[in-house]
Amino acid sequence: MDFSIKAFDTKNTIAAAKSGCIAVAVFDNKKLSQAAKALDQDGQISAAVKSGDITGKPGSTLLLRGVGAAARVLLVGMGSDESISEKSFASAVGGMLKAFSQLGAADAIIALPMEDVKERDAAWAIRTIVCAAHESVFRTDGQKSKKDPAPAGVRKITLATQSTAETKTALLQAQAIANGMDLTKELGNLSANVCTPTYLANTAKKLARDYKFEVEILERKQLEALKMGSFLSVTNGSEEPPKFIVLKHMGGKSKDAPVVLVGKGITFDTGGISIKAGPGMDEMKYDMCGAASVLGTFRAIGEMGLKLNVIGVIASCENMPSGRATKPGDIVTSMNGLTIEILNTDAEGRLILCDALTYAERFNPAAVIDIATLTGACIVALGNHNSGLFARSDDAGEQLAAELMAAGKQSSDTAWRLPIEEAYNEQLKSNFADLANIGTPGGASVTAACFLENFTRKYPWAHLDIAGTAWKSGGAKGATGRPVPLLSTFLINRT
Ligand code: BES
Ligand code: MN
Ligand code: ZN
Repeated sequence: MDFSIKAFDTKNTIAAAKSGCIAVAVFDNKKLSQAAKALDQDGQISAAVKSGDITGKPGSTLLLRGVGAAARVLLVGMGSDESISEKSFASAVGGMLKAFSQLGAADAIIALPMEDVKERDAAWAIRTIVCAAHESVFRTDGQKSKKDPAPAGVRKITLATQSTAETKTALLQAQAIANGMDLTKELGNLSANVCTPTYLANTAKKLARDYKFEVEILERKQLEALKMGSFLSVTNGSEEPPKFIVLKHMGGKSKDAPVVLVGKGITFDTGGISIKAGPGMDEMKYDMCGAASVLGTFRAIGEMGLKLNVIGVIASCENMPSGRATKPGDIVTSMNGLTIEILNTDAEGRLILCDALTYAERFNPAAVIDIATLTGACIVALGNHNSGLFARSDDAGEQLAAELMAAGKQSSDTAWRLPIEEAYNEQLKSNFADLANIGTPGGASVTAACFLENFTRKYPWAHLDIAGTAWKSGGAKGATGRPVPLLSTFLINRT
């Protein structure tokens, strides 16, 4: 997909624009948008709307020919003209892209009312269009011998809006975020026999080459020397070597404290000896989506050349049962010295993250955010709409949570806050070690977050549980690329 911005005015009219297709909005009260009016010189558009051929319902479309200088004009329903809601705009974009995919045209001008969405600006509209356009042509057929049919239709899009510093920046950022999401989705969808810890490490190395990041891959020996007993306990049952990935984008001032993103990279979670049930277990290939979102966000910030210091830390391994696997009741010592009784080997995410979070101390971070497909209970609590957001209730935690919530709203990749409180920590008591790796029944997402909190007291910290948002199940099974938009927007806002 190729995007550009072009402003049309009285000299440079939309009616004179040559294009395979121009998309303009019509409303459900039969009114035409400005661009539609400008194209309606011989009354064809108003006639089509009057006749009822298009209702103006958000996402409805009607294709006309012989209007203006363009080969085609696509009328796109935008709902009420009194106020265009986010939802109407997004549905309109969806309908438009579906029509674009079936056109004989390769290029199009989008002249939708991008400045008029309620409580949103043109930058939001641009991001919405770019991300939806990427999604519409995204394919996961790398592992099929017979590839899916290549997406047909429009590949080159001109956005008809004011060409200002803001809109140009918005377009660059939107493309970077969309490309980042594509990487996150590709990695998530790959099967676990291909997407191993080594594969993630190689992806990080490739990103480092492409965008001049520093990269370091720590191997088992080094992890042993660092005394990451908790992380290493999860790798015991697996034949695949663990990888601990450190990526650095030092785009800010050298003395500025970095933001550290910590990703859960379990490339397959069988549950270990506390083995999971069979149905749907294939979806545990997605248990590396936290790691994939860190890599996708790095692709985005690399492409943007973001002026901020950002460090990515990924702990990656498989969680497998075997004669060597960790057993329920085993006690291990984490990197920060706390001992952990592993009552359930399926609560492995927190066991790898706690050592990664201790490792992050060495960067004297301004903030650390971990991203993890951590608990099935988070899907019970929030469904597939919001990621779970956790932070302490001190000043630093409140501020970080507010920033992340705002970045989620801004990028339509929302999170919802859940508590971190001492009372939940009580649920993690063990008779034999400093901490148990599962809590007593109830609030499993919260006790998981509270477990991590024990390892994050040296810096401002937040945790995103993306179990419900990182991928879709069922017929539309596939990674979503979330929360790359939230994370990228959070980082952009910090510059
Ligand atoms: N990766 C899973 C969490 C998960 C499960 C995410 C299903 C998305 C869908 C995690 O490692 C896990 O198994 N968590 C357990 C924790 C429990 C043993 C306390 C869970 O959620 O069941
Ligand atoms: Mn698990
Ligand atoms: Zn897991």
